[in-house]
Amino acid sequence: MKIAIASDHAGYDYRQMLAEHLRAQGHEVIDCGCPGKESCDYPIFGRKAAQLVKSGECERGVLVCGTGFGISLSANRIPGIRCVNCTDVLTAKMSRLHNDANMIAVGARVVGEDTAKLLVDTFLTTPHEGGRHARRVALIDSLPLV
Ligand code: RB5
Repeated sequence: MKIAIASDHAGYDYRQMLAEHLRAQGHEVIDCGCPGKESCDYPIFGRKAAQLVKSGECERGVLVCGTGFGISLSANRIPGIRCVNCTDVLTAKMSRLHNDANMIAVGARVVGEDTAKLLVDTFLTTPHEGGRHARRVALIDSLPLV
């Protein structure tokens, strides 16, 4: 799978760790920054990864910031992006089964490294259930941006 990954400074180390983890599984990982551990602004990098998912160049996206909040909020400003900030396996799984999430965000200051890997693995391997859930997901995209 082709996966876009991005972080801010707070998520820098986790981004490297997750990119390595994903490449070891055979995924193609497109790194959207940030460039280093110097303080930077998460919307810039979350948006870059979200645009790759939106365009179809990448199938899924993985984001990391301190909490997972700011970078997921930024990605979700792009129509068609459904980015979930997960801290446990159940929500990572349900975000795929019911919400067809196409991006996951994790908080490097919130979850441990092994949990972050497990959340991303769960997100990538769980299918969407379709049916009534697909109807509801389509409704999200039909809501007017007012
Ligand atoms: C950076 O200090 C921190 O605010 C950011 O990584 C993120 O947690 C914001 O939501």
